Order: sequence, then C-alpha cells, then structure tokens
Amino acid sequence: MSVLNDMKKIERRSDIPSFLARHGLNRRLCEVGVRFGFNLQALASTKPELLIGVDHYRVTDDPGQQDTGMSQNKLDGIYKVVFERFMLDPSVKIFRGQSNIIAKVFPLFFFDYVYIDADHTEEGAYADMCSWWPRVRQGGILAGHDYIDADSRVGTEFGVINAVKRFLKDLKIPVEFLHSTKEGYCSWMIMRIDGE
Ligand SMILES: C[S@@+](CC[C@H](N)C(=O)[O-])C[C@H]1O[C@@H](n2cnc3c(N)ncnc32)[C@H](O)[C@@H]1O
Repeated sequence: MSVLNDMKKIERRSDIPSFLARHGLNRRLCEVGVRFGFNLQALASTKPELLIGVDHYRVTDDPGQQDTGMSQNKLDGIYKVVFERFMLDPSVKIFRGQSNIIAKVFPLFFFDYVYIDADHTEEGAYADMCSWWPRVRQGGILAGHDYIDADSRVGTEFGVINAVKRFLKDLKIPVEFLHSTKEGYCSWMIMRIDGE
C-alpha cells in the first residue's frame, strides 16, 4: 500500500508510530512541544536513529505559548523530569528553546517526520509550520496536534485548523496530501511530495 493511502487510514494519534515504522519514516523524528513527554515516548518506541524534542518550558508574555497557566517553577520541574527520563536513551535529544530558533539548527530536508504540538493559536501554529516544513524531507510528513475547534484552558482560541488551511493554500499543496485523525483531539498530517 502506498504511504499516502496508508496515512489516510490512520484514525488515532497512537497509530502514527507503527505507521512510521512500517514505511521507514522513523529514522529522524522531531516533536515540537514535548511537555511531559508522552508523545515523545510513543515516537521513541519506533527506535529512531535520532529523536529530537523541542520545548521552551517557559512562561512568556504570549498565552498561546503556555496555555495551561503553569508557573515557571513547575515548568522547570517538568523539564528536569523529562530530561532525566530520556537522557539514558542516546537517540533522544531534548532542546530547550523557542521552536523557530531551534528549527534553524537542522539542515533542510533532514527529518522523516515532524510533529507540531506547541503554540495552538493560528499565528503560532502557522509560524511553526513555516519553520519546520523546510526541515522535512521529500516523502516525509509534517503533522501536528489539536486540529479542532476549541479553546485552551487559559481561553486562547485554537487556530490550528485555520493555520493548516492557510498553509496548504500559501504553499499550493493539494488537499489530497492532508489527512486528519478521527478522535476527540485530532491530529493533522501533510505528506511532503515536493523537494523545493
Ligand atoms: C500541549 S503541550 C505538548 C504535549 C506533547 N506534545 C504530548 O502530546 O505529550 C505544548 C508544549 O509546547 C511548548 N511550547 C509552546 N510554544 C512553544 C514555542 N514557541 N517554542 C517551544 N515550545 C513551545 C509548551 O512549553 C508546552 O510544554
């Protein structure tokens, strides 16, 4: 089965790791927005050569960048626990920093799969897509969480659906390369077919 047809059958985010492994898309992976590391752990189960986790673990002036209202003290504690959990796995590296800055560390066309789950406002999600798309290889996948109409716990509006729509339109990506999972908090996935 083609990668695209198989991708379109994915119903839940928890099915993504086995899909990636089935199609050899598990060599270099990245998750933007790690928090407790639950999804990072699921990606680590595919035994990648390299798995990058990016999270600033910071309270900033922008509520979209920290949408649970946690204190800086609490975020520092979560970072420590996550760092210690993954430090014994040599394939996993946690980068503590801003998504758009960390993205520039990696070469173009580097990753098989990048999953964005950080700032869920339309502007924030769109900016992350623009930062990470160039780092996804041809035949790879850019994906992300919270493809839903809802508000976060601190009341910021989730704009991921609009950001994805805008991204497809601006980059002239045919909608047939987009898929979304079928669950409460859906994920979106875009297969990259161009190499520009
Ligand atoms: C929803 S949580 C991630 C949950 C994780 N993906 C999971 O499913 O297990 C979002 C995380 O994104 C981080 N974040 C938000 N905006 C960011 C940005 N611009 N750069 C880096 N990290 C960011 C926050 O610190 C937060 O820990």
